[in-house]
Amino acid sequence: MQALIADIQDELAHSVCKDLSSESASFIHCDVTKETDVENAVSTAISRHGKLDIMFNNAGIVGVVKTDMVEVSMSKFEDVVRVNLVGAFLGTKHAARVMKLARQGSIITTSSVCGVLGGFASHAYTSTKHGVLGLMRNAAVELGQFGIRVNCVSPYTVATEMSRNFLKMTDDEIRSGYSNLKGAIMRPEDVAEAALFLASDDSRYVSGHNLVVDGGFTIVNNGSCMLEGKVALITGGSSGIGESTARLFAKHGAKVVIADIQDEPGHSVCKDLNTESASFVHCDVTQEKDVENAVSTAVSKHGKLDIMFNNAGILETPKPNILDNDKAEFEKVIGVNIVGAFLGTKHAARVMIPARRGSIISTASVCGTIGGVATHAYTSSKHGVIGLMRNTAVELGQHGIRVNCVSPYVVWTPLARNLLKLNDDEEEKRVYSNLKDAVLKAEDIAEAVLFLGSDESKYVSGLNLIVDGGFTIVNPGFCMFPQELNLDS
Ligand SMILES: NC(=O)c1ccc[n+]([C@@H]2O[C@H](COP(=O)([O-])OP(=O)(O)OC[C@H]3O[C@@H](n4cnc5c(N)ncnc54)[C@H](O)[C@@H]3O)[C@@H](O)[C@H]2O)c1
Repeated sequence: MQALIADIQDELAHSVCKDLSSESASFIHCDVTKETDVENAVSTAISRHGKLDIMFNNAGIVGVVKTDMVEVSMSKFEDVVRVNLVGAFLGTKHAARVMKLARQGSIITTSSVCGVLGGFASHAYTSTKHGVLGLMRNAAVELGQFGIRVNCVSPYTVATEMSRNFLKMTDDEIRSGYSNLKGAIMRPEDVAEAALFLASDDSRYVSGHNLVVDGGFTIVNNGSCMLEGKVALITGGSSGIGESTARLFAKHGAKVVIADIQDEPGHSVCKDLNTESASFVHCDVTQEKDVENAVSTAVSKHGKLDIMFNNAGILETPKPNILDNDKAEFEKVIGVNIVGAFLGTKHAARVMIPARRGSIISTASVCGTIGGVATHAYTSSKHGVIGLMRNTAVELGQHGIRVNCVSPYVVWTPLARNLLKLNDDEEEKRVYSNLKDAVLKAEDIAEAVLFLGSDESKYVSGLNLIVDGGFTIVNPGFCMFPQELNLDS
C-alpha cells in the first residue's frame, strides 16, 4: 500500500513520511478549501501510483468555541464550513473523478460524534459534521452506480492536537473524561483501524454507513437530562415501579425524595443513587400528617416540588366470591390506593399552586379501565384514582398544574408476584399479553412516568397513559384475529 499525505503542515507531514519509508509514503501540500489543491493532490496520486483506491477526507478544524451564538461571526463560521464540509466535498468530487473511470474505490470521510448529537461542540463544528454525513449518504447513492463505496468514520474525543486545543485539557484529563466504555481509552489508532476496515475489501458491501467509534457514547442518554433541576417526591419508591422511577428520575438529573413505609429498602435505593440526589422519608400514605411532612421535607430540602408521583399501592388476597370479602379489607385497599393518592395530590397542590406549576402523576392500573382482572377493592380503587385525576386536572389546570395517571398491565414486582403466585419466569411469560414476545418491566412504566413528569408533556393533562401493550382494547374472547390464549395460567 502506498499513501499520499495531503496537508498544509509541510514539516510535520514530511517527518511522518520519513518515519514510514519513501517507498510507501509521500507528501503533497494541499489546502482542502482550494479546489486546485485538491485536484492536484488527486492527480498527483494517479501520476505517482497509477490509480487511487482509497480517499480519506480527514482534514478538519474546530474553529473558535463560543457558548453564545450571538458572538459567533459569520466569517468564523464559514472558516469551519470551508475546511470540514467544502473540503470533504472537494475530496469526494475529485476522488470520484478518477474512481468513476476505474469503476471502483472507497471514499471515507471523518465525521464525529458531533455529527450524531448536538450540544457537544460549537454550532459550526456540529453543523459541518452533520453535513458531512449528509454528503456521504448522498454521494453513496450517486457513486454506488459506479461501484464506489462511500462511508464515514465518527470518533469520540481522541487525544489529538485538535481536541487538546479545543477542550483545553491535558491528555490525561481527556482520557479520564466521560466514557461509556469503562477502562478503555480511545486512541487515534482505534479510528485508524475503523478507517482501515472501511478502506479494505473486508467491507466490500458496506456503503452509506457511518461507523461510530465512541464506545457507545452516542447511544446512551447522558446528554439528555429530561428532569435537570427538578424535584420529585415518589410514594412507594422503595420497591417495584416506584424504585425504578426513582432511579430513572435521578439519572435524568432530578432530586428525588422517596416516601414509603419500607425504610430499609428505601434507604438502600438512595444509597445506590447518591445522597445528593436521593433521600428517604418514612411515610404512610394513609396518614395525612405523614404525607404533609413528606411534601414539606422535599420543599425544605430542595426549595420546591415539581413532580409528585402517587404510586404507593397494595393489593389484597383475591377472594373470588363477594360474600367472602370483608369491609375492613376493602377499606384498607381504598385507604392506601385512593385516599393515599388524594392526600398526595392535596399536599402537592398546596406547594404547587403558589409556584403556578407542577406535574402530579398517580399510578392507576388496567384495573382502572376494565373489570374482572383483580379484586373488587383494587378495581374500585383504581377506577377511583382515575376519577380523582380527572377532577383535579380540571381544578389544578387553573393554576398551571398538570395531573395525569399511568396505568400498567402486569409488571412482575412483589405486588404482582404475591397476587398471581406463579412458580417461575417461564410461567410468568405465559400470562396473556396482546403484544407477543414483549415482557412489561417496571422500567417501561418509569419511562412513561418520566414523560409525564418532564416538560416533554407540557400540554398533557387529564390523561390516563395506559402501558399495557393493547390489553385493554382487545376482547380475546370475541375477536376476528387468531389469538393465543393461555387460559390455564
Ligand atoms: N405490578 C403490577 O402488575 C401493577 C399493575 C398495575 C398497577 N400497579 C400499581 O403500581 C403501584 C406500585 O406497585 P408495584 O407493582 O411497584 O408494587 P411493590 O409492592 O413493588 O411496590 C409498592 C410500594 O408501595 C409501598 N406502600 C404500600 N403501602 C404503603 C403505604 N401505606 N404508604 C407508603 N407506601 C406504601 C410498599 O412499601 C412498596 O414499596 C401500585 O399503585 C400498584 O397498584 C402495579
